[in-house]
Amino acid sequence: MQKDLLDEARRLLHKATSICVLTGAGVSAESGVPTFRDKNGLWRNHDPMQLATPEAFAATPALVWEFYNHRRRCIAAVEPNAGHLALAALERRLHDCTLATQNVDRLHQKAGSRNVLELHGDLWTTRCTACGVRQEDSTHDLGARPLCPACGGLLRPNVVWFGELLPQDAWGQALAAAKRCQVMLVAGTSATVQPAASLALMAREHGARVISCNLESTALSKAADIALQGKSGELLPLLLEA
Ligand code: OAD
Repeated sequence: MQKDLLDEARRLLHKATSICVLTGAGVSAESGVPTFRDKNGLWRNHDPMQLATPEAFAATPALVWEFYNHRRRCIAAVEPNAGHLALAALERRLHDCTLATQNVDRLHQKAGSRNVLELHGDLWTTRCTACGVRQEDSTHDLGARPLCPACGGLLRPNVVWFGELLPQDAWGQALAAAKRCQVMLVAGTSATVQPAASLALMAREHGARVISCNLESTALSKAADIALQGKSGELLPLLLEA
């Protein structure tokens, strides 16, 4: 059964000249990056309202930085997996391939993807809460109250927190790609966080076939044309091999 679905998905992907991909934390799970809502996920052990909202940062910046410094240390030590590499290879051989990710770990770029839309920001960039300057910084631990070298203001992680808008440029490009693609490939996301999760439905409304690759069944996989269940590090190479 899964073999037939896999063959059908491969056929669709090989025929398509325009593909949009949406990834989530599950794609990095096999690299050793924790997801959010699985059994040992970050939001199972930490309250996101105390760590990932602008209000939490205003109240307890040191606690929020402790959490993000911990994530920076974890991510510094990991490597992309076969799923990331398969997506990077897809981008190299297809003219119109857009990769929108909810991940902030930069593993897609480390695997060789160049055109990555980071819908939720990234962990390696800081943003000054006073002057707004963004700066890449690969230091693993920035301490409890990192300050802006330009103006002395408090720095925050350049990630999107609950209640905040997505970076409008990346979101606009992702929407446009979802609307024009022939195949929308969604991998490793519980598809519970909006508006990212709505990209696949948007694609379908505009005529795309939706393929989902996820360890568990989700609302999105139920709505997909083809839902493949398994690890993205195994499924994506099988689906995308040239
Ligand atoms: P979740 O943790 O909500 O979902 C991860 C999904 O990946 C689950 O459905 C898992 O079953 C699946 N999964 C786990 N391991 C997998 C594997 N090896 N292969 C394939 N699938 C696997 O993570 P996201 O959907 O990415 O936002 O969460 C969305 C957003 O919620 C995140 O970007 C983050 C969080 O709050 C912010 O921090 C703004």
